[in-house]
Parts: sequence; C-alpha cells; structure tokens
Amino acid sequence: MQARLDGKLALLYTLLVLQVLIVVIYVASTPPPELVASTTRNSVSFVKFESPQAKQESEPLVNRKSLPSYRTINSQILLKDISTFKLFEKYNLTSCWREGVNDRRMKKEDDLEKCVCNQGWHGSDCGQPEVVWRAIMASKQNIKLKKRKIARRIIHVFSINDYNSAIAEVIVEELYGVVDLFVIYDFSNAEDNFRHKLAKGLLRREQHKILYVNLEGKIRKPSRVISTYIWDRMNSVVMNLRDDDIYVTTEPEQILNSRALMFLKIYDGWPQPIGFRLRWSVFGFFWQHPMKTSITVGACTISFTREVYRSNSLILPKELGGEVTERDVLGLVIGDLNHYGGWYCYLCQDPANIITSLRHKTKSREIKFEKNIDVPFVEDLIGTGVFLDGKTNLLRAYKSRDPYYAPETVLNNTWKYDWLVENFYAKLDYY
Ligand SMILES: *[C@@H]1O[C@H](CO)[C@@H](O)[C@H](O)[C@H]1NC(C)=O
Ligand SMILES: *[C@@H]1O[C@H](CO)[C@@H](O)[C@H](O)[C@H]1NC(C)=O
Repeated sequence: MQARLDGKLALLYTLLVLQVLIVVIYVASTPPPELVASTTRNSVSFVKFESPQAKQESEPLVNRKSLPSYRTINSQILLKDISTFKLFEKYNLTSCWREGVNDRRMKKEDDLEKCVCNQGWHGSDCGQPEVVWRAIMASKQNIKLKKRKIARRIIHVFSINDYNSAIAEVIVEELYGVVDLFVIYDFSNAEDNFRHKLAKGLLRREQHKILYVNLEGKIRKPSRVISTYIWDRMNSVVMNLRDDDIYVTTEPEQILNSRALMFLKIYDGWPQPIGFRLRWSVFGFFWQHPMKTSITVGACTISFTREVYRSNSLILPKELGGEVTERDVLGLVIGDLNHYGGWYCYLCQDPANIITSLRHKTKSREIKFEKNIDVPFVEDLIGTGVFLDGKTNLLRAYKSRDPYYAPETVLNNTWKYDWLVENFYAKLDYY
C-alpha cells in the first residue's frame, strides 16, 4: 500500500516538474510581446480593414501629436523644383545618368567621351531604361530627346473605393520617389475608409505628398464629370503648376513603372499622350491573365491635358479598343510583351472585397454574371487560377524566373505583401 502510494506520488511529482519545465521552455522561446505585435500588425495589413476588431488592434499605434497631417482639398500646395544636375554623374569628358551608368568603367578609363551603360540602360547618357528605349525604337518616329535642367513635376491621379484600396499603398510606396503629388480620390465614406487609415498612420512617411479628396456618393456620375472635377480641384489647389509638368491618371489597381516615369521627368522631346502597356496580373502577382497585358492611357503634359478638357476630347481608358487604334491615339506606348510599363493587379483584394468589386462591375455592365458568387467560389478561382468566367485558365507566374514579376516595393517587402506573392488558396500540390 505504502509503496503504491509512493509510486503514485513520485509520478505526480514527475508530471509537475515536467509541466513547470514546459512552461519555462515556452516562456523562454516566446519573443517579447512588442515583437509579436509588430509582425502580426504588418503581415495582416490586408485583413485589417475587413475585420471589425482591427480597430482595437491599431488603436494603441496612434500617437496624435506626432501624426503629420495629410492634405485635404482645402489647403494649398507648392511643388518643389528639382535640378537634374545632381541626378547625373560628371566625368572628365561627359556626364551620365547616375542610375544607368557603369561608374567603375567610367572612372577607370577617364578619356571616355561616351557613357558606358549598365545592363538595362541605353542612350548616349544612359538615361533611357530598357522599357523606354524599346518603346522609342518600336514607335519608328524620329524622336529627339533633350535633357532638361529642371525636372518636370508629376501629378499622379487615381481613384479608390473600400474594396480596391489595398493596392493604393503599393502604388504610393513604389512611386514615391518620382511622383511629386498623388491625388487620391475616394468614393467611400465608410468609417474605416482610406482617410481613416491615413489618420491611423498608413503611409505616414509619404503622406505629405498625398492630396486626399473624398467623393462620397459621386460614384454614379459619369467618369468625364468626375475627372473634370478632379482636374479643376487640382488646379485650384496646386499653386505653381507648369505647362510642361505631367498629369498621370490610372485605374485603381494599376502601378506604373517608376523608371519610365522618371524618364518623362528628365527629358524633353517625347511624343504624347503616353500609354503604358501593363503586365496583367489577376488576384495577385502569382497569376497572369492569358492576354498578358492591358494598355492604359497614362501621361500627358499639363498644357496638353488642359487642351483636352477645354475641347472635351478626353480619352478614357475604356474607349481605347484593340491594338489597331492604340497607335493612332497615343504618341508612345511604353511597354511590350517582355518589358512592362507597369502592372495591372486586377482584383488583387481579399475574396470578400473581390465579390463587392464584381457587384459594382456587374451593375455598371462592365462584366456579366449569371452565377451567384460567394466566398468559396472566389477562393476556388484564386486557388486553381481560373478567371471570372469560370473557364479561362490563368497563367502561373514565378518570382524566381521573372524579372517583372511584381513592383520593387512588393519584392522588397514580401513579408508585408505576402498576400500578393503567395497564393493562400492554392491546393496542396502547389509549390
Ligand atoms: C581628362 O581627359 C584628358 C584627355 O584624355 C586627359 O588628358 C586628362 O588628363 C583627363 N583629366 C583628368 C582629370 O582625368
Ligand atoms: C528595394 O531595395 C533596393 C535594395 O535595397 C533599393 O535600392 C530600392 O530602392 C528598393 N526599392 C523600393 C521601391 O523600395
């Protein structure tokens, strides 16, 4: 009896010691709470504005005193002037575009009269990125480029709504270095809309370049009316626009090639309007539409745009039909089937937002839907790589093989943008 009791006690004590050990190991191996908080905060940014508890989660982040105010349509804006001088490297006999020149070779052989370019750069001063150089060759026009002394400024205008604003952060981050002012107009007046997110610290570093305009309730208005309204607002707010500054407009989920935009800022002599041939990704950068590209009417000078509005001859992206018309309307198309003028990340949202987005597109007759779509249906499309028609197979894209897989800011921050580079709904055989 005594022996059996001792045995039981010994067992109990052993279990107790084991439990304590487990607790100690667990505590020792768990990172401090601030670390956990920051990783979840960053990696779930996609889910964040969908779920109601997200608000509590981000509340402690707000530090009202240090919050820089973003601009609204009531303030006035002065655009900076940037001399192109410091963007070029001076050598003994020539000066070359800093990003494009092979600096080592130039320094070694100081009698070179021509710039030696890195791979992916062209032109006598190495200022033409591959995609622009190809566009100029393909256009068969006699284009005479001239380096500017003062860079043009770029105003980049795009709209968002609740269901498609996830990409807005990528756009601003990717183009922050080349765009002088983002005009973001928001059709949503939801409590957690983009303005709310900015106030909570989204794009904190970039906010001083953002002009946020709320257009709640105006989504039904014709796009001509809306774009004219935005054009007028922009003109009344920006105090020192120049005729040769650049006005860029895109659809919500389009991210332009930053090098191509930079080229437009630095040189004179390109024909306009500029169109961009975008890589057409669907649901994320891991799927590509079988048509591969989509063309958007993108950039014109301010004076050109003013004339277009005055004569009411605005070209809307939707009016641009097939390949045949594109060269007639556009001065230059930047991007081809191997080198893209940017990315169209079509329906790169979470399934619930994709459904909302499709409802809008159905209402505006952009697409037709017979089937009743729900979240499992959309998840299945994403997982298996099938387009909205339920028939067309999407092409799988591979990060490792594809130099244009995704914008740089996404590739640099795959932990933050994991939902854009990893297919969470893929079946198990996906690798
Ligand atoms: C610049 O090039 C000239 C001509 O080749 C050469 O004589 C001169 O030494 C070079 N100057 C410098 C500072 O390298
Ligand atoms: C991505 O990272 C590279 C290398 O660190 C850096 O030079 C580049 O500016 C980054 N790009 C963006 C868009 O942040």
